[in-house]
Amino acid sequence: MNAKTTSAKAIFVCQECGHVSPKWLGRCPACQAWNSLVEEIRTAKPPARKAEAAVPPRRLAEVRSDAAQRLSTHLAELDTVLGGGLVPGSLVLVGGDPGIGKSTLLLQAAFQVAARGTRVLYVSGEESPAQIKLRADRLGSAPQELFLLCETGLDAILAAARELSPAVLLVDSIQTLAHPEIASAPGSVAQVRECGAALLAVAKDQGPAVVLVGHVTKEGVLAGPRILEHMVDTVIYFEGDRHHDFRILRAVKNRFGSTNEVGLFEMGSRGLTEVRDPSRLFLQERRAGSSGSAVTVSLEGSRPLVVEIQALVAPSYFGMPQRRVSGLDYNRSCLLLAVLEKRGGLALGTQDVFLSVVGGLNVLEPAVDLGLILAVASSLRDQPLDSDLVVLGEVGLGGEIRTVSQPERRLQEAEHMGFKRCLLPRANRPRHAPAAMEWIEVDGIQDALAQALTGHNPRR
Ligand code: TYD
Ligand code: MG
Repeated sequence: MNAKTTSAKAIFVCQECGHVSPKWLGRCPACQAWNSLVEEIRTAKPPARKAEAAVPPRRLAEVRSDAAQRLSTHLAELDTVLGGGLVPGSLVLVGGDPGIGKSTLLLQAAFQVAARGTRVLYVSGEESPAQIKLRADRLGSAPQELFLLCETGLDAILAAARELSPAVLLVDSIQTLAHPEIASAPGSVAQVRECGAALLAVAKDQGPAVVLVGHVTKEGVLAGPRILEHMVDTVIYFEGDRHHDFRILRAVKNRFGSTNEVGLFEMGSRGLTEVRDPSRLFLQERRAGSSGSAVTVSLEGSRPLVVEIQALVAPSYFGMPQRRVSGLDYNRSCLLLAVLEKRGGLALGTQDVFLSVVGGLNVLEPAVDLGLILAVASSLRDQPLDSDLVVLGEVGLGGEIRTVSQPERRLQEAEHMGFKRCLLPRANRPRHAPAAMEWIEVDGIQDALAQALTGHNPRR
């Protein structure tokens, strides 16, 4: 990159007050804000506006819908999350932690699409052709219509896209791209924004579906400017625990479909496979009859997942009892332990409490509160819950048990997994409950504890 031509075109604009400076400054001379100057490209002359709009307005009724034009990735779970496939001319952003499988997912989709004769260009700024080939070998033999470009220069990528005119352009990742007119390092706010804008123009002008990979920061949000998320049509996140094989694909924004759908995958030795029966995956290693375990049903989008919450309550030998939580919200868990102590009368002040969701799943829905509470109580009293019991309910600060959404859907999945009885909030009495399921209505945690943990325990 030539620094001289760069400085002639790039300017620095204060994000606080709009002050323009020809060079980067740590502090804005106009509003005194620190670190607020961001590089931007100044176009030589704004194009003169025509008096009338270039495209006249049309009747909405005459506009054709694009439903038929969707391009299937032939990965049903990915198609579902996209709202039925890739839309030509759209821009999709896939975010996720490093090593979660973003590159694998896109390469697999590329294989599937190209194998059916549709041209795909896969651009990688992170890996060498040999590295990608190594990964590709695990997925099968590469189709003819799949083209690979290992490049970080935006110009070269745009030229390749023009020449090949692929139907799908995959860019892994947006943080590695370098705009020729911007001096700051790849991954900086200005680079990500301008490269994103250039690729958006490719999608709109040349018509390919463009998929960008984006890295996430430690806080779990996409690195780079927020504006990138506004710019693209669809934002999907690929989530999961690196030490487990289960992965969830979730749309957080979708101009072409619902954000209520999730895609479920399992990472194996030959890439990602779709998971059709996730609940079975989570329950397969469950030991019936052990204390500290409760089964509940969480809704991921519109998909019910039967999950096991495990608790281990053990006497604390240090002044400050420990609370360790994985797969659940830490603050909510602490709150529920306090509710259990105060409203349920269980002495947890001298006990360490460890909580986890089996299978590396993250369950942040309040409908699993009652499951957490009963798992803790079961471990403290060393008394197992019945192995055919599933529990549902949100717990309030007063110890009351509140309704959960879509109880029928949850109960159906629990029945499908072989559960026979359900503890659920009184107000949640399902209208179309599965016939083979018996339910027990509860309205407070005292009530729930009495129903779930009956019988005399010699230890307490
Ligand atoms: P990758 O797609 O490179 O993740 P990302 O692009 O999100 O950083 O995948 C990373 C992990 O997936 C890596 O640790 C190896 C593993 N993996 C498998 O287990 N099986 C496979 O078939 C492939 C291709 C990868
Ligand atoms: Mg990658």
